[in-house]
Amino acid sequence: MSNTGKQVAFITGAGSGIGRGFAHQMAKLGYVVIVTDVNEDSATVVANEIIETGATAIPYQFDITDADVAKTIVDEVIKNYERIDVLFANAGALGPSDFWDIQPTDWDVMTSVNIKGTAIIAQLVAEHMKAQQSGRIITTASYNAVRVAAHVIPYRVTKAAILMFTKCLAMVMAPYNVTVNAIAPGVTMTPMQELYAQKTADERGITLDDYLDDRRSRIPMQELTTIDDLNALAKFLTSDESRLITGQIIAVDGGVMASS
Ligand SMILES: NC(=O)c1ccc[n+]([C@@H]2O[C@H](COP(=O)([O-])OP(=O)(O)OC[C@H]3O[C@@H](n4cnc5c(N)ncnc54)[C@H](O)[C@@H]3O)[C@@H](O)[C@H]2O)c1
Repeated sequence: MSNTGKQVAFITGAGSGIGRGFAHQMAKLGYVVIVTDVNEDSATVVANEIIETGATAIPYQFDITDADVAKTIVDEVIKNYERIDVLFANAGALGPSDFWDIQPTDWDVMTSVNIKGTAIIAQLVAEHMKAQQSGRIITTASYNAVRVAAHVIPYRVTKAAILMFTKCLAMVMAPYNVTVNAIAPGVTMTPMQELYAQKTADERGITLDDYLDDRRSRIPMQELTTIDDLNALAKFLTSDESRLITGQIIAVDGGVMASS
């Protein structure tokens, strides 16, 4: 417990979509929520939404690729709350879709955000979890980490790297009662996915509804993933019941990853 008597959850990319969903759920579960996002306005909006419910949230503008800022924020959280119980290393970038459009700098951005950014914050928080001998680290991967296809290749490659990082970190943290797992969301209609879906529908000259029908038809269970679906898994992975589950990638995707 922190000096406020509450547990603390630290979330990256919490200003939108899946991270915002995690932030609200952790607040409902009674955690102090550290709401971080590269977009300062959205971090503030989400923190205020939580504060309006009577829970505690602290917003931080935080680009996960900046190691110095990461350390400053983690140190401040530890100074103020004495611990971090849960880390959602959730922020990620999608990158170019068409292989022939990829520029050398796209690889810099994608490896920097999806791999380096995830690894930096996980290492910093893990150090404190090691000292406190408890904690839960959850990274956000994707079914694209294992599914082979001809598009969004830098995304697939960097999400695959997150899987290996997650499994290795699980081994590092196992002696310290800290579990490390990856959640692999299916197609979830967040701002990131909406943008991608609309762009692809436009490129194909079809409506967004037709595009989504097509995507649904290629999901074994024929359903898109909701934020509530992801929150159900996140709740389990942060509970005592999941204490021996570590180094896993768990998909909430209606069978897409299993069919890959
Ligand atoms: N939505 C999906 O269908 C889907 C599927 C599989 C995996 N994912 C993964 O889920 C995670 C969340 O995505 P989402 O769909 O909620 O997208 P989103 O765009 O709605 O939210 C992502 C958030 O991350 C923030 N962000 C981006 N780069 C950042 C950086 N460098 N530092 C800090 N914050 C940064 C953005 O500002 C945004 O608020 C991502 O890792 C994504 O790859 C999403």
